[in-house]
Amino acid sequence: MYNNKVLEIFKNPKNVGTLKGANGIGKVGNAACGDIMKIYLKINEDGIIEDASFKTFGCVAAITTTSVATELIKGKTIEEALKVKNSQIIEILGGLPTQKIHCSILAEEAIKAAIEDYYKKQKKLEKTNKNSQV
Ligand code: FES
Repeated sequence: MYNNKVLEIFKNPKNVGTLKGANGIGKVGNAACGDIMKIYLKINEDGIIEDASFKTFGCVAAITTTSVATELIKGKTIEEALKVKNSQIIEILGGLPTQKIHCSILAEEAIKAAIEDYYKKQKKLEKTNKNSQV
């Protein structure tokens, strides 16, 4: 069902686990298959993703696509990371079975969710800083 590249990455995924000091965490899931992905980001003051990791509970494609997603966004700006498309992930993997395309969409959504979380946290921080200055 999967090509060799997918299986290779599945056997040796990159950036697995939580990330110490992560300031953006995105969690997404697919109700139909029950798979869950969590992406952790460490974004610096210049808006560069210094580090990224993931924890995925799901199928081979879910794990593989999140691994590729974290590899793709490391060292990128937030704007660049937001442009990462599931089609790009599929291309890197050399293709995915049709019924597994949604796994790559979930990976794309996980990146966006983590960045959204980062923005939310930044806003909260700004508010706290403002309040403490009053
Ligand atoms: Fe749903 Fe893979 S089967 S994410």
